[in-house]
Amino acid sequence: MSLWGGRFQDGSSAMFRRVNDSLPFDRALASQDIRGSIAWSKAIFKAGVLSQDEQQQLESALQALLVKAEAGTLDFDASSEEDIHSFVEATLIEQLGDIGRKLHTGRSRNDQVATDFRLWCRDHVDLLITDLENVKASLVNTANTNKTVILPGYTHLQRAQPVRYPHWCLAYVEMFKRDISRLQDLKVRLNKCPLGSGALAGTTYPIDRHEIASDLGFDSPCLNSLDAVSDRDFVLEILFAASTSMMHMSRMAEDLIFFNSGEAGFITLGDQVTSGSSLMPQKKNPDALELIRGKCGRVFGSLQGMLVTMKGLPLAYNKDMQEDKEGVLDAVTNWHICLCIAVEVLDSIQLDAQRCAKAAREGYANATELADYLVDKGIPFRTAHDISGQVVLAALEQKVAIEDLELAELKKYSDLIEDDVYEILQLDYLVNKRNILGGTGIEPVQAALDAELAAIAKS
Ligand code: ARG
Repeated sequence: MSLWGGRFQDGSSAMFRRVNDSLPFDRALASQDIRGSIAWSKAIFKAGVLSQDEQQQLESALQALLVKAEAGTLDFDASSEEDIHSFVEATLIEQLGDIGRKLHTGRSRNDQVATDFRLWCRDHVDLLITDLENVKASLVNTANTNKTVILPGYTHLQRAQPVRYPHWCLAYVEMFKRDISRLQDLKVRLNKCPLGSGALAGTTYPIDRHEIASDLGFDSPCLNSLDAVSDRDFVLEILFAASTSMMHMSRMAEDLIFFNSGEAGFITLGDQVTSGSSLMPQKKNPDALELIRGKCGRVFGSLQGMLVTMKGLPLAYNKDMQEDKEGVLDAVTNWHICLCIAVEVLDSIQLDAQRCAKAAREGYANATELADYLVDKGIPFRTAHDISGQVVLAALEQKVAIEDLELAELKKYSDLIEDDVYEILQLDYLVNKRNILGGTGIEPVQAALDAELAAIAKS
């Protein structure tokens, strides 16, 4: 039986059911709906709506349902109910008759669904923070086991200046730390309880809204009933956090796909996260990374979709809002999957230190060093830059590295260049010179790595 049949003479059309029913997807909120209902039964008992015995019967039936929901054994497919709220209520009515019919007193599906979805998002925020911590730990681990590796750093995908491999890893650690703090931050706004807001105007029953909020682990009740039932900022914030984090993962994937290419050959990925070609026997493709990059499309799409859904809605609840679920369920599921597979990819990385160093040495990545050397000798930087550029041009013509040019040749560009120039053109020298906070020198990199290792040990 539907929750609202009384004033209707005709039933819903099949097509209406198809567009309107949300049980096919909001069944994902089953345990949150049941937890919310347990708290509601306590609140309406205290408000004098239920006797103690009725509340206890409801609570134990709901607890039994919760066990099934968590085990994934509720039979949704056999149900003809419209949504998860009517499914739970109908199940209680079937088991308890009139006691089940009392549960919805003073409550609306509008405050109920807003509560359920906040609970669902909160549960998943905690899971995603753990996932992000795991990715961070894998990056710190590969950084720590390959501390001495130097590879080219790029701008415009042109070799720019050499960097330490751990420095590359720790750049992504910074991004994932921001993703974690974004989740912690949005949780503050998310963790407020709509229950007691009714359909839109508040309820007439004397519900202790502070008590029910804390019973469900919320920090406080939502303060305006119109806003409480129609606010979906928390949905947008999760989708934005997902989009930003997926963008970070996609950039990392893009770097690694390039590092893994035949042309770069800096890394090899494990068999367990790559796939072969049906035609070309030699292929080992970085599919996991390409899918991390590829799945950004649907996650960004969900954010855009939700913004558009919300933008024209008048207060308070409108059925458009039911469209909030699928995008978030999909985005959060795929974000979670991508974070988990990223851990496996990172754990499988084998570095080819020699190829990395060779590439870092090539491409005139030490040209800035030559300019700085001339600055040390008293030449203004702009002039030094120009001289170093001319040296690169000469080396390019001869198809050699700067350090392969004879001193006499170098002196043609500046007679301030001496024999000591060869030392500063060496790879280790130029990386180690950047011993500034946040730079790629051994000291700041080791300090950053130590800080991350200590943070992991503490958690
Ligand atoms: N299934 C709806 C949703 O997900 C909740 C029900 C509110 N329905 C209503 N007619 N007021 O938003």
